[in-house]
Amino acid sequence: MTAINPVTDLDVREGIAVLTLNSPPVNALSGAVRDGLHDGFQKAINDPAVKAIVLVCAGRTFIAGADITELGTGAKGASLPDVQSMMEASPKPIVAAIHGTALGGGLEVALCCHYRVAVATAQLGLPEVKLGLLPGAGGTQRLPRIVGPEMAMEMMCLGDPLVAPEALKVGLCDEIVSGDLTEGGVAFAKKLLAEKRPLVRVRDNDSRVTPARGKPEIFASFRKTHERKNRGFLAPEYIIRCVEAAVNLPFDDGIKREAELFRELLSGPQSAAQRYMFFAERQAAKIPDVPADTPLIPINRAGVLGAGTMGGGITMNLVNVGIPVTIVETSQEALDRGLKVIRTNYENTARKGRLTQADVETRMGLITPSLDMQALASADMVVEAVFENMELKKEIFRKLDAICKPGAILATNTSALDINAIAAQTKRPEYVIGTHYFSPANVMKLVEVVRGDKTAKNVIATAMALSKRIGKIGVLSGVCYGFIGNRMLFGRNVQANRTILEGASPARVDKVLTDFGFPMGPFAMSDLAGVDVGWNAKTSKGETLRDRLCEAGRRGQKTNAGYYDYKPGDRTPIPNEDVVAMIREFAASKQIRQRDVSDAEILDRCLIPMVNEGAKILSEGIAIRASDIDTVWVHGYGWPVYRGGPMHWANSMGLDKLVARMQEFAADDAAFWTPAPMLAELAAKGGGFK
Ligand SMILES: NC(=O)c1ccc[n+]([C@@H]2O[C@H](COP(=O)([O-])OP(=O)(O)OC[C@H]3O[C@@H](n4cnc5c(N)ncnc54)[C@H](O)[C@@H]3O)[C@@H](O)[C@H]2O)c1
Repeated sequence: MTAINPVTDLDVREGIAVLTLNSPPVNALSGAVRDGLHDGFQKAINDPAVKAIVLVCAGRTFIAGADITELGTGAKGASLPDVQSMMEASPKPIVAAIHGTALGGGLEVALCCHYRVAVATAQLGLPEVKLGLLPGAGGTQRLPRIVGPEMAMEMMCLGDPLVAPEALKVGLCDEIVSGDLTEGGVAFAKKLLAEKRPLVRVRDNDSRVTPARGKPEIFASFRKTHERKNRGFLAPEYIIRCVEAAVNLPFDDGIKREAELFRELLSGPQSAAQRYMFFAERQAAKIPDVPADTPLIPINRAGVLGAGTMGGGITMNLVNVGIPVTIVETSQEALDRGLKVIRTNYENTARKGRLTQADVETRMGLITPSLDMQALASADMVVEAVFENMELKKEIFRKLDAICKPGAILATNTSALDINAIAAQTKRPEYVIGTHYFSPANVMKLVEVVRGDKTAKNVIATAMALSKRIGKIGVLSGVCYGFIGNRMLFGRNVQANRTILEGASPARVDKVLTDFGFPMGPFAMSDLAGVDVGWNAKTSKGETLRDRLCEAGRRGQKTNAGYYDYKPGDRTPIPNEDVVAMIREFAASKQIRQRDVSDAEILDRCLIPMVNEGAKILSEGIAIRASDIDTVWVHGYGWPVYRGGPMHWANSMGLDKLVARMQEFAADDAAFWTPAPMLAELAAKGGGFK
């Protein structure tokens, strides 16, 4: 065994060189790894005793990707393209032996090997799109030459890896190795030599791409199919353009095109935002005063109170990871309805092929319905998801405290209410916590974990760990009305409502926000949630626009009418002129002059209040860091990830400009538009949120 450098060893056995990378934790393509590859391959190629080379990695994975901390920093060491050219041009066959994950740059290195073998659990993929990038080390040119343009676009635009057996089917992998991987790689190399198999240089093999030449419809149809998912994102479109180049241009020209488009993405705002969010999401799990080794409370059985919209989704999250759930309701009818919705959701997933019917039954089998709260006695954690009513929640927590075993966590899914007041109803306030899921709870990735004044650290750590276990991102919030997300939403809604009174139609306001990248605007969202949430028919006196809509029976999608009209069974909002007239009349009755409100004004008036509220949330310590606020908005409310969340957006816009804009709006409502002290201070210093 020869050490090539501190992270690379070369061992020659019976004419086969084994080049082993050992750069924990994931053998990322750092300068040292690239140097090791360069020098190791050179040595093996120059050694007359070597007939073939196997590239393998020590530790838990093959090269898992680029070293993203190096991105855009002018990295040191051998250049990746040089290493790759040398590998591909090698006169001796090189075999990549893959375990763990060969992702991004890792797979792009493997694509320069002449053959690839993998253990059955290995995953191969090009996930750069998730960071707003494209595979910039030849992946966009080599992958289509192996799997064909359509499959390559699918893999690179979605960014999801294939497991080795799938990779084998599409030709991305040549053999599945069972048993020791290095031995398997060496045996495969010997077989290549014995059978005198050719050196497969992917760059020279056009057979998979030529059939698509002169067929733009292939790309048009791919664009159309993925239009909705890719709306607003640059990277998927650039990936498609690279694959077009792979199909229509010689390899080296395609590589140049890839490099151009890669550089453009790398220096652009979208990838900066997506890379920022990548770190933000990971950072959210770190809570300064709750050490990472805080002992967790085992959650082996859970309870959910309320089988409505949220209780059902929360139950699904838990049973999806095998935690049995007892779900309690007040009537058999509500229980049956809740379970039916859960079953329908699972069956829809099964119909799409993403679950088997057996999975559906297993998951349903983990749910125990009950009308008796006593059934929650043995749960390790209970999540309350009943109506948003403080008196009801207080009563329920008193009962839960009496019923649940000592040490059980009592969580509430309240959207806004005071967790401390709820905790005070129990003799175990240290076990009371908020776990605020977002609708649809089985889909949305965010959980706001709300820490009460007395919540114990192990309870916080357990709620955060549970969020992760069910595939969500937990973000810690302190107690305040609406926590992080809804508190910021309130400010946005105030301005959205004012702009329609001042003359912008609900459809126009919604369009400005969907053009910005939100999946839906505030008025479509209000129709979806129910215009009447929190409205009281008995006390309503037509004093607000909402009162008037609800009094007119326009309560949202459920009545097929709200700010918009809806056809029965169809969620597409249809603008309604009568609503616009109703708004105009209401505005006149309040002496509000209607005028033309520009799109830019609508956008700033909706978004800047969120940033201002975010600054208050930060200075009050409700959120630990600005990036947590951004994580909440991206994963709970559909803020476009390529704009990096409200605080990142504000930083990139410049806080001084933002404050200047607030001063312009202040003429109408000085109190509303007063910058939070933290925002004013940062803007004055020329700084940004950290
Ligand atoms: N819907 C959302 O978008 C959303 C999002 C986040 C948080 N929340 C919060 O989640 C909670 C539940 O909201 P939802 O939208 O699921 O409401 P929902 O009306 O759909 O469901 C509430 C369920 O609780 C049941 N219930 C009422 N009292 C009960 C009791 N004493 N014991 C057992 N069950 C009881 C009701 O029968 C009903 O089925 C509220 O606190 C709400 O603010 C809602």
